[in-house]
Amino acid sequence: MTQRRFLVTAALPYSNGRLHVGHIAGAYLPADTYVRYLRSTGADVRFICGSDDNGVAALKTAKEQGRSVEELTASYNAAQARDFAGLRIEFDIYGGTHQPEYVRVHERFSQDFFLKINAKGLFTKKSSKQLFDTQVNQFLPDRFVRGTCPFCKSDRAYGDQCENCGRAMDQTALLNPLSLMTQSTPVLRKTIHWYLRLDRMQSKLSEWLASKKDIAASGASWRSTVLNQSLGRIEAEGLPERAMTRDLTWGVPVPLDDPDAKGKSLYVWFDAPIGYVSFTAALCEKNGEGADAYAHWWKDTNCKIVHFIGEDNIVFHAITWPAMMLATHDSNDTQGVSGEYQLPHNVVANSFLNIKFPGQEEQKISKSRGMAVWIEDYLQQFDADPLRYYLTAVAPENARTAFDFDDFVSRNNGELLNAFGNFFNRTITFAHKYFDGKVPQRGTLEAVDVEQLNRCKVAVDRTGAELEACHFKGALAEVMALARSGNGYFDVTKPFLSRKTDMAACGRGINICLQTARTLTTLVAPFLPTIGENCARMLQLGEGWQRWSRACEAIADGQALGAAVILVKKLETTDLIADPH
Ligand code: 2FM
Ligand code: ZN
Repeated sequence: MTQRRFLVTAALPYSNGRLHVGHIAGAYLPADTYVRYLRSTGADVRFICGSDDNGVAALKTAKEQGRSVEELTASYNAAQARDFAGLRIEFDIYGGTHQPEYVRVHERFSQDFFLKINAKGLFTKKSSKQLFDTQVNQFLPDRFVRGTCPFCKSDRAYGDQCENCGRAMDQTALLNPLSLMTQSTPVLRKTIHWYLRLDRMQSKLSEWLASKKDIAASGASWRSTVLNQSLGRIEAEGLPERAMTRDLTWGVPVPLDDPDAKGKSLYVWFDAPIGYVSFTAALCEKNGEGADAYAHWWKDTNCKIVHFIGEDNIVFHAITWPAMMLATHDSNDTQGVSGEYQLPHNVVANSFLNIKFPGQEEQKISKSRGMAVWIEDYLQQFDADPLRYYLTAVAPENARTAFDFDDFVSRNNGELLNAFGNFFNRTITFAHKYFDGKVPQRGTLEAVDVEQLNRCKVAVDRTGAELEACHFKGALAEVMALARSGNGYFDVTKPFLSRKTDMAACGRGINICLQTARTLTTLVAPFLPTIGENCARMLQLGEGWQRWSRACEAIADGQALGAAVILVKKLETTDLIADPH
């Protein structure tokens, strides 16, 4: 069988702030779990991420904090990389669209995309009126204008997007615009930009998106939120032209020898997804394959591209970015930078995560109001896996869910510790105490034992099927169900009684428990990598224990076991940093 290949990306976080639990639950944790799972099935995978440094988000924060934008983005890029590493979210590369190591390759790819689309006549150059701040004498970047959303009437709308309803915004459409540079009312002034003719790709995009409704035909189960939002947008509004340049000097310069392009950059949402490609090229270069090897991932349909994102990024990943890729298509050139990019196999989006502090109402995570659990703070006190467990168990896969402090503690203690940790603990401890730390003889199986072994096989298939479909919550539920069945089996076969009357039956029971633990070790590892490693150590599993196909491999009678280690610590609510003020 040919080896499956996947290129998995996680949305590039803006490098103007720290990461909180909402970011992790939205895109990064499911992506990491998926990558670990795919690798365990023997797939060849590259996992790509890095910071989104360009555009106005960083510029605005740098201005507010009195720092240079270069220094600000470099420091947050490094802080984010530390947070990810602490949670064991392990990318093959963590680049940055304006980080010194990557900026050149990123500019090359971004400008190439732009030139290619331009050469194909898919940009319209036209003048428009934009908001201009007369006090600082400059056009206002989208994020520097705030106003009322013309659609949902929320006042949390910016010039590029409404934070409330998620719609892409044209800054001139904002009601009651306000310059965030000077808090003054801006005026309209003429400027020239390059607009992507999305209308020209509309029918292809609609057809492609519609094909994703048919799971059997597309081979991937797209979430209805992603399809509804993207197809719904096309049906409701069609695809109007969108400006892909900005009056801004921080970013990728518009690569045209045209006086009208002077002082302008590519729109950050144009260059950011290209970061996935340029970081792939940087990774190939690092691995000694040469930057052009990126095409092996991006232009060879034997590789499947899967984007993990938060819900506010759906339109950009399911419409704009595929349109950009379609727009570069040149049937005469299938090699190198200007060849044909393949469209994503799947775009996996989660909804947002709310937050609920003890004794308070559930609310939206808000950086400005201090309503968040920051990863850096969390990691100072706790291990990665309890958070990974909780954020998968309550993952906002189809609708918003909340990080609830009490629920976090009770699921850690009641599920992860009680069901999973205790099953390992009682099994390994028993084997050490009564079987000299070795796997006891299995002997002749009885129906109850065969049933338990069957449960292991079924759990492997079900968990695998859920993970293939990117149903992480459902997959984790299967793993936990197996852990509970292990406890049930232990309780029913009662080795603590049979050890006094029938040592063979007692040994058989512990053997089957250890076998169940063997299966659980492989199944849990994509979700909880450290716990998986500790399980493997206790069972003294050799190299390759993560392989999905080996999850039910028989553990040998007489094999020595490692010392019991505490897999999960009990938590108290008071352990948590729960100060919302
Ligand atoms: O919403 C965000 O945080 C963006 N920085 C995501 C960019 S994803 C991609 F296109 F790079
Ligand atoms: Zn709105």
